[in-house]
Amino acid sequence: MTRNEQINWFKEQETPFYFYDLEKLRMVLKALDHEMDQYGYHMHYALKANANFKVLTEMINHGYGADCVSGGEVKRALDAGFDPQKVVFAGVGKSDSEIKFALENEIGCFNVESLEELEVIEELAKEMNKTANIALRLNPDVDAKTHHYITTGLNENKFGLNPNDLDSTLALLKKSKNLTFKGIHFHIGSQITELSAFKHLCLKANDFLQWFRDHKLKVEWVNVGGGLGIDYENPDEKLIPDFANFFRIFHQFLNLENGQSLHFELGRAIVAQMGEFVTRVLYVKKGISRSFAIVDGGMSELIRPALYQAFHKIENLSQKGDPDHKYDVVGPICETSDTFGKQVSLPKTKRGDLISVRSSGAYGEVMASQYNLRGPLKIITSDDKVD
Ligand code: LLP
Repeated sequence: MTRNEQINWFKEQETPFYFYDLEKLRMVLKALDHEMDQYGYHMHYALKANANFKVLTEMINHGYGADCVSGGEVKRALDAGFDPQKVVFAGVGKSDSEIKFALENEIGCFNVESLEELEVIEELAKEMNKTANIALRLNPDVDAKTHHYITTGLNENKFGLNPNDLDSTLALLKKSKNLTFKGIHFHIGSQITELSAFKHLCLKANDFLQWFRDHKLKVEWVNVGGGLGIDYENPDEKLIPDFANFFRIFHQFLNLENGQSLHFELGRAIVAQMGEFVTRVLYVKKGISRSFAIVDGGMSELIRPALYQAFHKIENLSQKGDPDHKYDVVGPICETSDTFGKQVSLPKTKRGDLISVRSSGAYGEVMASQYNLRGPLKIITSDDKVD
């Protein structure tokens, strides 16, 4: 489907909606496999970025596992058809019922974030006569140099095991018949574009690996999480993130031994660029000092700009002229932060024009809310178009 055919098809649709171009997703996945397979690395796609069934099916077709952070995500992964053995379950606040559900379904691994949590998993596993595979989430204290809301690997963050609890944690793992220690887990943050942060992670991980070697504990799995950023300014030119350098860094700087496998949990880098949020201009309102393009989609559908002041490229799909007008592109929600972009350069924009908010395939649909009792969210994909 050409871009023009897509836009003509969009014009027939009720707005707002998310559009997922599965052809783009397939291109990203092909490039990702090409880089990752050179080293024999494993991917557990981070469901939290986009848990749409059609998207998940593509991941399953590539043999990926799933990284989940709630019972709901574990269930979604299993319903979609992921191999339970390739499902990992992370999160600082796993509830008892979520843990039981994961144990019942014999998922591949719990990424454990505290001694307190490990004690509960052990107790429940014993009750259910199950054995849980365990990876310990460690906090490498690496600055991901990204938005402070999505930095997770610093000592001050809530994530990861308290190093003072490490000895008691290992004692419990050694003693328990219902827990099997499998490996270690890290995740330093999201939308990381300075790749040197990953080099720092490797160096810290090497120290941890040495520590486990010294303590005669075999680490089989090393999971370095996700976090690779994308180019929000250039969604077309930079459809494929810098997978090549990303994996090369781990290959070059992480000291793995024979029998140790390396696992990743990418989300955004895989799905962001395949998605766009398409919305229609309701009114062009002349304010006192600026003009507003008021659109029919809002922060209840796509919250990233309001929540993180995140930049998304905004395009007018209906007008071809020069972008010589400036608009604040705002939604209908009763909040000032319901703004997709300020002083956005667009061609002269009219009521009824289609506006695309690009790079919305990650953390868009999944973070949508009911706020202002907005209608159900509409999703269409390139596979839905029948000629
Ligand atoms: N693994 C763990 C343990 C995580 O916490 C996350 C993301 C990922 C993997 C995937 O990270 P990614 O490859 O997508 O960067 N809502 C925010 C992003 C929050 C990310 C939370 N954790 C946003 O819209 O930017």
